[in-house]
Amino acid sequence: MSKLTVVGSINADLIVHAERHPHPGETLLGSGGEILAGGKGANQAVAAAQLGANVAFVGAVGSDPYAEPAMHYMHSSGIDLSAVEQSDTTTGLAVITVSADGENTIVISPGANALVDAPFVTARQSTIADADVVLLQGEIPASGFKAAVDAAQGRVVVNLAPVIEVDRDALLQADPLMANEHEAGLILEQLGLSSTGTPRELAHRLVSAGFKSVVLTLGAEGAYVATPESNTDILTPQITAVDTTGAGDAFAGAFCTKLLEGATLVDAATFAARVGAFAATSSGAQPSYPTTSSRLPEVTQK
Ligand code: RIB
Repeated sequence: MSKLTVVGSINADLIVHAERHPHPGETLLGSGGEILAGGKGANQAVAAAQLGANVAFVGAVGSDPYAEPAMHYMHSSGIDLSAVEQSDTTTGLAVITVSADGENTIVISPGANALVDAPFVTARQSTIADADVVLLQGEIPASGFKAAVDAAQGRVVVNLAPVIEVDRDALLQADPLMANEHEAGLILEQLGLSSTGTPRELAHRLVSAGFKSVVLTLGAEGAYVATPESNTDILTPQITAVDTTGAGDAFAGAFCTKLLEGATLVDAATFAARVGAFAATSSGAQPSYPTTSSRLPEVTQK
């Protein structure tokens, strides 16, 4: 069975809800305080595994009380965790504020994720080398990112979120590079290129910079798939967002699940948009993800 290896972060998400996001220096009354499983790497791995993909993970978790909630869905979804180290440190922590319109702000303390550097990744390179697809984000050290690309023998998919400074040649191995509009601008700046223009112009500029393919995620407006040969708008189901935390990660995991099945970029993105929309309709990241038996929302607009 084809295999996806995710090299990435594991976090516990501490989530509070507020009517709106506070201004600098302001204190607001809110509610919540749940501690749920998160981390962009773990989110993407769990999204893929729950949709039936064969997934292995390379990463690190701490030994504190946050480790158990952070790993809950990594265990329950059947991911191969043999390349995950439990270290004598703190688990990655994300402090998340969700506003009434479902938008979030996130501050991360990396904890054990900071251990996932080049020596750590190289020591686990066999888990990467035998994968058909390797999926990376920006929540591990840049040296670990490069080591993972170097070890990969299959297709490399990169969702550089958050955008960190990484090795240019390693980044250009991404096929596709997956980014939202804001991230696409920052990546263009990292490449020394202009970050102004429409989202589609940014995608075309990234393709011209050397990426074999680019998937630009556009939230409620769907996505855009650009290659040197073709450009395609991807529609998304219209939903009422409850919490968008981790919806982009659900998109990435679902996208790779379809790539493993042999889908085209456009078909994979079309499916991923429905999964991302599903994830935005309930709270949290991993708790909001569908399984193979979930009913995904349909695209209704023409
Ligand atoms: O993309 C959402 C994720 O970002 C959260 O789960 C949080 O842990 C941060 O990594």
